[in-house]
Amino acid sequence: MPSMSRLRTTAMMAALGLAACTADKDAIVDPAPGDDTPSFAAVQATLTRACGSCHAAGSGRTFTVAMDSAALVGSGLLNPLNPGASPLLVKARSSAHGGGNVTAFTKGDSALVAAWAALQPNVGANTLFATRTDFAPTIDGLGEALWTQAQPIVIPIGGGWAAADAVAMRALYDDHYLYIYLRWTDNQASFKRQPWIRRDDGTWLAQAAKPTPAAETEWNAYMAANAPAGGRFDPEAPQFLYEDKLALIWNTYAAATHVPEFETAGCAAACHDPSKGGKPGTTYNYARQDLAAKKYLTVQGQILDMWHWKLVRHNQQSKVDDQHVRYWAPVNDATAPSGGRAGDAGLEGYRTNPATSGRPTFKSRLTGHNNPFYAIAEVDTVRMTDAELAAMPAGTVVANVLTSPMTGNRAQIDGRGVHDNVAKVWTMEIRRRLVTGDDKDVQFDDRTRAYTFGIGVFDNAQIEHSYSGMPLSLVFKP
Ligand code: HEC
Repeated sequence: MPSMSRLRTTAMMAALGLAACTADKDAIVDPAPGDDTPSFAAVQATLTRACGSCHAAGSGRTFTVAMDSAALVGSGLLNPLNPGASPLLVKARSSAHGGGNVTAFTKGDSALVAAWAALQPNVGANTLFATRTDFAPTIDGLGEALWTQAQPIVIPIGGGWAAADAVAMRALYDDHYLYIYLRWTDNQASFKRQPWIRRDDGTWLAQAAKPTPAAETEWNAYMAANAPAGGRFDPEAPQFLYEDKLALIWNTYAAATHVPEFETAGCAAACHDPSKGGKPGTTYNYARQDLAAKKYLTVQGQILDMWHWKLVRHNQQSKVDDQHVRYWAPVNDATAPSGGRAGDAGLEGYRTNPATSGRPTFKSRLTGHNNPFYAIAEVDTVRMTDAELAAMPAGTVVANVLTSPMTGNRAQIDGRGVHDNVAKVWTMEIRRRLVTGDDKDVQFDDRTRAYTFGIGVFDNAQIEHSYSGMPLSLVFKP
């Protein structure tokens, strides 16, 4: 690694060269006395020029060229201890970047930003420290006081449908478990997941999650098209009938399954858009599965561990779906729309309320119709009679999700979310054994290692999640 002063000088020259570039590219200008550091103005001008076309204010990205120096320092995009390895710079050079390897961003530009990054405080914005605890939190989503002994981290998210632009996280551990607490804003809990509704003509229809986007539409274009005139896109508008979700993705560290690219690119390493040369993307294509942006890995055997909480399908059972992302080659297979996403071995703990002669089959035996209304525990199901269904008026809604206990490796994560309708926030608690033995899972068996992860928030969204653009680290404090 070059010495800091050389790095600074190189960057300095690059900065000055940049300012003078149209006049005389190679002119070496002596720095003004006392001005031996690159200025943030120079950094911002460089980023604006090279990155501004896609990362402008309002672009929905978590990195925007409008960020001031404090926002950039607090974003986790810089690594003051190893400035050349700053996630911001690595991303701009990575094939796992929506903008690809940005050629307009020269080595000199990179050195300038690195030299500035070297001078910034190391706020550890992308590190979640797990604190050892003697008392286990109750996994009820409420978040008892003992969580305050864990250091909070606030992770910026963007790029999708969430009202939240950040998720706060805390972590605790004991001899057996890792515990995670999460908090993010959402003005309402969304639980009307694709319900059965009786139509005016008396027939029943299981509703779609959303009006189907035209092929090759991008999420952001779909959001713009579905926003009220002059207003903001509202994921809770009546045409969206889905549920709130949250996902964490972890790298695995067994030699056979580890995903090196995830360490530097985060979730983008698993996000591929075949219609855009395989780079991360957000293109819909329901008719051509091989052209739609999906999650998958491009190397056989590689595994990312995915913890996927779904309000309607899992909260009733206090579980988080233990899934994984694996190798997949884009094929146009309408029966396998999940790409490289798969459940770990075991029963998934939910199914849809099946159709009998085109109408829903079950209701809940509990009074008050269903409890909660949009998910029925399998043990509470009662078959509806023809007479009962015939008497239901148009507009009647019947839950379309039946839940049951998960089993096997799929059931290895406990979790529960609670929505506070006054504070307008979700709080959530998750518990997983440090070591599960399943090769589809991250094993927290080495407490000296940093574990890389990413996070996604689905605000009444089927796939259109807001996500952390950069890799995050979990570190166990002794
Ligand atoms: C042609 C468009 C384009 C350009 C130019 C571009 N990017 Fe990106 N960038 C994207 C897209 C799309 C994503 C989201 C997918 C991903 O994470 O790679 C992204 C994501 C990122 C992220 C992750 C955080 C986030 O905002 O989602 C960083 C950091 C980033 N880019 C840095 C840069 C830097 C630095 C430059 C300029 C040197 C740059 N990008 C130029 C399109 C672009």
